[in-house]
Amino acid sequence: MGEELKGIILAGGLGSRLWPLTKVTNKHLLPVYDKPMIYYPIETLCAAGIRDIMLVTGGQSAGDFLRLLGNGADFGLKQLYYAHQEGEGGIAAALRLCEGFADGEPIVVVLGDNLLEDDIAPYVRKFESQKRGARLLLKEVDDPERFGVAELSDGRIARIEEKPASPKSRYAVTGVYMYDARVFEFIEGLSPSQRGELEITDVNNRYIEEGALYYDVLDGWWTDAGTFESLFRATQLIAASREAGGT
Ligand code: DAU
Repeated sequence: MGEELKGIILAGGLGSRLWPLTKVTNKHLLPVYDKPMIYYPIETLCAAGIRDIMLVTGGQSAGDFLRLLGNGADFGLKQLYYAHQEGEGGIAAALRLCEGFADGEPIVVVLGDNLLEDDIAPYVRKFESQKRGARLLLKEVDDPERFGVAELSDGRIARIEEKPASPKSRYAVTGVYMYDARVFEFIEGLSPSQRGELEITDVNNRYIEEGALYYDVLDGWWTDAGTFESLFRATQLIAASREAGGT
């Protein structure tokens, strides 16, 4: 894999779990301590040296992202690219809109409501040294049933289940996904899930079938911010890291 690693941030969806906070704005524009939520995934990619970023969003507040972020100059980006998702077809449906942007190159995808303490640069470097396939970041959590859950066996991920009632492990699949160009071929082959979405978990299970899914486990904290509890937790974690001298 060359130096062309591109970044993608998925910030579509309706944010219905945060209603009425999301009645007149997009979830990713809500504050997490002292910054809009969307700043954090951009900073996550920038810290890993990724300067070529596409943001996918939608809904009635899509134009506000352009007003807030412009061309990404505040983050040191040369240019920030945008794609518009109609409706809420799922994470894989949002990612599909980036096929032209990716242009056959490997990509690092971050969900717009995911915040993490660790610098992902070492994991991105490992992904770059892979010849092919995908790489995920896992985190041990107390409430795995809220997430995609990885079943581990012999140092590999044997299977991922989306929000299982009886999780087979405590390892949540975080919203940082690194993919080679085959991801778009796998998305084409998907059918909508019971919740009517194209699921990223189904994409990841395709990589498992190909024997091409690798992973690392995060040491630092990780959280989503898509529910009242997790948004509050995200704010507390950022506040604590600011107190400890973080940026
Ligand atoms: O946070 C990690 C989890 O994210 C994973 O463990 C799960 O496997 C994965 O399915 C996802 O779970 P959620 O159900 O919590 O995802 P949610 O619907 O909240 O969407 C997360 C982000 O993805 C959201 O902030 C914006 C983006 N998204 C989502 C949908 C449904 C889009 O861009 N478009 C969409 O249509």
